[in-house]
Amino acid sequence: MAAMESARRSSRPATGDRPVGSGGRRGARTPAETTPEGFGRFSAENPVHSAFAAVGRTPLLELELSFRGRPRRIYAKAESLNLTGSIKDRMAAWVLADAWERGAWRPGHRIVEASSGNTAIALAALGRAQGSPVRIFMPSWMSSERVKILSAFGVDLVRVSEAEGGFVGSVARAAECALREPDTFLSDQFANPANVEAHACTTGAEIVRQLDSLGLKADVFVAGVGTGGTIMGVGRALRERSPRVRVHPLEPAESPILTQGVHSGHHRIQGISDEFIPAVVNLAALDRPVAVHDGDAILAARELARQLGLGVGISSGANLIGALLMQEELGAEAVAVTVFADSHKKYLSTDLFKEEPAAADWIAPGLQFHSWRAIPCPAGLPGN
Ligand SMILES: Cc1ncc(COP(=O)(O)O)c(C=O)c1O
Repeated sequence: MAAMESARRSSRPATGDRPVGSGGRRGARTPAETTPEGFGRFSAENPVHSAFAAVGRTPLLELELSFRGRPRRIYAKAESLNLTGSIKDRMAAWVLADAWERGAWRPGHRIVEASSGNTAIALAALGRAQGSPVRIFMPSWMSSERVKILSAFGVDLVRVSEAEGGFVGSVARAAECALREPDTFLSDQFANPANVEAHACTTGAEIVRQLDSLGLKADVFVAGVGTGGTIMGVGRALRERSPRVRVHPLEPAESPILTQGVHSGHHRIQGISDEFIPAVVNLAALDRPVAVHDGDAILAARELARQLGLGVGISSGANLIGALLMQEELGAEAVAVTVFADSHKKYLSTDLFKEEPAAADWIAPGLQFHSWRAIPCPAGLPGN
């Protein structure tokens, strides 16, 4: 399987002006090809069309804070404002719309996927609206909130323990199920180039427009890697606008799979670093991975809620720290952008809502947040 083949590939990160988002089995792009904006590429007959206005076009938050005694500004997309509360709505809507156009999925046909939760929730919501049953293979250690939400959507949830293969086992079982069952669509988020395209054409295109409205261009973009759709797709859109932008994938320091190429260690940043390097990720087209401790990510997310009233998930805390660290290398004035992938609500039962003792070298304890303002998505992105 593509995802696991790529897990076995050795990974050597490198820096440069190469096009981002050209990994994966198909959909490779040349630098000359420009990325279209928004969901407008899909026809009005597409059944997913009815959901497009509820996905994407999220505000870009401009955060003011102090880090190491110096004022900083970080930009982050507020992705909890999507239909089911996460960035994965973009991918799910795009992948289903694309599959319908290719004849690979029809309303009523079963949707199958391996997911740590947010993709499952997004596919469930969009799938159920089209009368499609949804079967999800999910590692057994994901938060109970995810399990309850999926059961509310009537999802057929298969929880896969560590002994049964965990994440890699979930991916394999989803693929087997799709082969076995008739009228079944495997959305294949770890290898499907439509995942990258969703983020290039919506998340990335929106960021370009929002920064344009401030007279800015991104200098650096940082995002945690789950499937890699966000980092590859947004990276592609930003590089088309300014070829020198740095694009850094982020991983937990406790499980640095992008750097080491093999799975090692447990971490608490749900949604990223899923035991293998997905096929859509092309490390050679990205700048080097940045590592953030999961406890530091938890503290950063907690401080965003406590000091600014922004309730974000753990990966958002990690992304904020990663963006600050990479901005530090370029200078405090550099335009640093990231995503807040979801809200804190799906983490009530996790360490995000417990006391987290800080280590001496962590970043979050030294952050003072001052304010935020929301930069709206300018009108004119076709179809969303
Ligand atoms: C909370 C959270 N953060 C980050 C990501 C990573 O996004 P991507 O799959 O585009 O790499 C995910 C993916 O599911 C997620 O659920």
